[in-house]
Amino acid sequence: MAHTILVTGATGRLGQLVTRRLLDIGDRVRVLTRRPEEAVRLWGDQVDIAEGDFEDPRSLQVALRRVDRLFLLSPISQNLAAHQTALIDAAAEAGVSSIVKLSGSTWTIDNSARSIAGAQHRAAEAHLSARGIGHVILRPNAWMQVSLAPVVVAALSGRDLPNRYAGAAVSFIDVHDIAEVAARLLHAGTSVSGPQVLTGSRAYTARDVAGLVSTILRRPVGIEAGAGAPSPHGGDAFATRAVAEFATLIAEGLAAPVTETVERLLGRRPASLRHFLERQLAPLHTQAPRAAQGETQWQ
Ligand SMILES: NC(=O)c1ccc[n+]([C@@H]2O[C@H](COP(=O)([O-])OP(=O)(O)OC[C@H]3O[C@@H](n4cnc5c(N)ncnc54)[C@H](OP(=O)(O)O)[C@@H]3O)[C@@H](O)[C@H]2O)c1
Repeated sequence: MAHTILVTGATGRLGQLVTRRLLDIGDRVRVLTRRPEEAVRLWGDQVDIAEGDFEDPRSLQVALRRVDRLFLLSPISQNLAAHQTALIDAAAEAGVSSIVKLSGSTWTIDNSARSIAGAQHRAAEAHLSARGIGHVILRPNAWMQVSLAPVVVAALSGRDLPNRYAGAAVSFIDVHDIAEVAARLLHAGTSVSGPQVLTGSRAYTARDVAGLVSTILRRPVGIEAGAGAPSPHGGDAFATRAVAEFATLIAEGLAAPVTETVERLLGRRPASLRHFLERQLAPLHTQAPRAAQGETQWQ
């Protein structure tokens, strides 16, 4: 009989892509959301919708009924560990056989004394490992679609690019690669011991990124002289502090290492930064520079 996979965070940036891939593979998907109308808008009747909230244990129990596998994602907050612990415990009681946990970047968890987000993920990882359910922990590096959104907006507006990490290089990963890894592991019901550190295939400094943008746009592209504004987040005080801590750790070069995990798990190289930038900057070759208004569309 086909298995059922519960996707948490399904209406968010990564969860939407994971859900789409699972549906394309032919899996039966249930999504947990506080906004069922949004799930209907995204997938119509292709998914089973469980209205629920990490804060409401009863809703998690109901959502996990007859579920075999769980994709565990929740946004960074001071409640991340509590939310994920509640889900892991409810999954264990429901008889879920494997969990894929989307964790933080490895350098936040390895430096959790200096990263409040890393400390939350670290606690959730420890609980998952202690519960004895089959699982895989994914620790993706900084996402191109999030970290480089201000770069794309600046490039589309003809401005100098932000220079946020004091010249440090970052092996950004394309969120589509993370989604593909997660979907494949969920589909296979795989367990892997030890965190899987997902990165792009090489690390880029702000200057390297400006060079790529310049090549794509066929014009000189500068970078701002100062440190530049922090990445817009739109979150609360916890998220604002977490993002500021990310910038400090990245500036130390901690997000530069490259792993071969994506290639090992997918059998192909990670999506390249050049390919990502070409897609994002395509509006400059048409007459609809939508992202110049501040809204970056993912392609
Ligand atoms: N961006 C990066 O570079 C990066 C790097 C490494 C790791 N990460 C990790 O990625 C995760 C964030 O992923 P994302 O950006 O895809 O998330 P996101 O777009 O912010 O989406 C958040 C999702 O969580 C759901 N949600 C929020 N509160 C909820 C609640 N109380 N009950 C039930 N559902 C709730 C939302 O669903 P509804 O609103 O529909 O209920 C939504 O689907 C974080 O754990 C972060 O640490 C990010």
